[in-house]
Amino acid sequence: MILVTRRYRFSASHRLHAIPLSDEENGRLYGKCNNPFGHGHNYEVEISVRGPLDARSGQAVNRGALDALVGEVLQAFDRRNLNAEIPEFQTIVPTSENLGRELWRRLEQKWHGAFPSGWPALEKIRIAETARNIFEVVAQNV
Ligand code: NI
Repeated sequence: MILVTRRYRFSASHRLHAIPLSDEENGRLYGKCNNPFGHGHNYEVEISVRGPLDARSGQAVNRGALDALVGEVLQAFDRRNLNAEIPEFQTIVPTSENLGRELWRRLEQKWHGAFPSGWPALEKIRIAETARNIFEVVAQNV
């Protein structure tokens, strides 16, 4: 098996605010990220897939197919206000943890259409929200 990682980028804004919590609790929990006007990030997303090496192509993943699939999924988030424009984040907080799970869910939904053979498999999503905040969703803990 070979592990292949491709890196993508998108930009979006968000506000960290948990609806069930009071304004005071939100302020304590999220600090300046609870600012009502939100703030933006240039997200760097790495998608890792795992698959057998194809002897003819010498590759473990059709990069064109992967780019098309990931591009289609990320396009829905690019230049968006995550809280207001992504339906799932109208009820859950658009932290990068939740963003990673949502990306996973959306990729999985389209995976079979892009890779009918079942290979490669989605192995990991790594989101760098800032240089210091990095989140990983891995196949075992979705
Ligand atoms: Ni933020």
